[in-house]
Amino acid sequence: MSPTRDRSHSDDLLSFVRSSPSPYHVVANAAQRLEKAGFQELRETDDWAAGAEGGRYVVRAGALLAWYVPAGAPARTPFRIIGAHTDSPNLRIKPEPDTGTAGWRQIAVEVYGGVPFNTWLDRDLGVSGRLMMRDGSSRLVSVDRPLLRVPQLAIHLDGGVNEGVALDPQRHLTPLWGLGDTRPGALLGRIAGEADADVADILGWDLMLHDIQAPGYLGADEEFLVSSRLDNQISVHAGITALVAAAHAERPPAYVPVLAAFDHEEVGSGSWSGAQGPLLERVLSRSVGARGGSAEDFHRALAGGFCVSADMSHAVHPNYAERHDPDHQPLPNGGPVVKVNVNQRYATDGTGVAVFAAACERAGVPWQPFVSHNAIPCGTSIGPITSARLGVPTVDVGVPGLSMHSSRELCGAKDPGLLARVLTEFVRAG
Ligand code: CO
Repeated sequence: MSPTRDRSHSDDLLSFVRSSPSPYHVVANAAQRLEKAGFQELRETDDWAAGAEGGRYVVRAGALLAWYVPAGAPARTPFRIIGAHTDSPNLRIKPEPDTGTAGWRQIAVEVYGGVPFNTWLDRDLGVSGRLMMRDGSSRLVSVDRPLLRVPQLAIHLDGGVNEGVALDPQRHLTPLWGLGDTRPGALLGRIAGEADADVADILGWDLMLHDIQAPGYLGADEEFLVSSRLDNQISVHAGITALVAAAHAERPPAYVPVLAAFDHEEVGSGSWSGAQGPLLERVLSRSVGARGGSAEDFHRALAGGFCVSADMSHAVHPNYAERHDPDHQPLPNGGPVVKVNVNQRYATDGTGVAVFAAACERAGVPWQPFVSHNAIPCGTSIGPITSARLGVPTVDVGVPGLSMHSSRELCGAKDPGLLARVLTEFVRAG
């Protein structure tokens, strides 16, 4: 039986991604899974002193931090942190969205993060996000029907199209969703109806578009996954898997496992729910305080700690192999990639490689080194930011894929499960 046939992890991942069209949905679905595993939510405004052992989590907008304190663990027990991000590049709805041209009703959008514009053309798009209600509550909403489309200009009207599609993000990405006059308030009215809310009670919102095509398997042996938002929901999902496994393991972990799933990585992480802010440091410090630990204990727990920053990586592209370093060409289903950039776009150093390689060895999982072509700039992740902020050694890793940031990405069907196995081993021992 081919190993790709064990689909329990990848099937579960695909259903997670499908039900998580926005960072707010990622966080809600993660919280639901953690609750089911016995984790309890803490509010940042509460006193955390009560009940310090076991699983806890904090939600701040599109970010979620979770950790598990083994019974009897001293306050200075080192942290083992899995870092990831909940957001994906997409098109987000502008404050006054109802617009139109030449008899078409359209919706004004703003580009979020590094979007390859062409990948959003001619896709059937839904709307998702959150509504902030008059009573102070927030409500998730997701319209998973074909509601909008950014139509590509026909080749007959664009003879040079195959020399390159030039798209002006202000003019050419505006989706259509009807005919007739622009009606102010029409979109929000529709969304309110979908959420069973009175539009007059919606005081604020964060709404975005998503491709409604269901995720699935692809390839001669169905050895690939194809889906939106694999970057970086693969890593969030693997991190949850590892944390839940640590909480349920027969032998308690030697560390305090932590999952830090930040928002806004795709736009530089500088926000109250992003990796550049004090969120993680503050939560970890409070978690030590809640166990009766001192500032000294907190600093010892960090000093002995380690972080794996997990984020999607590039597999070698068969049609552009020359864009990759000739001796570092990861392939799907070869195991997680360890990303190196000596200019600190990735935080990995020899120590990080050794810790991750040891976890791979214990988990029986192969891994692949990655470094970019010297003439082509590489991406980055929350790794260097988290490492610099906390002063914790960090290794950047990820599942290799193609079409990163496309509205529909591709990766190996085995790799998400392999990543989860290594992360489970990383937070447990070693
Ligand atoms: Co990413």
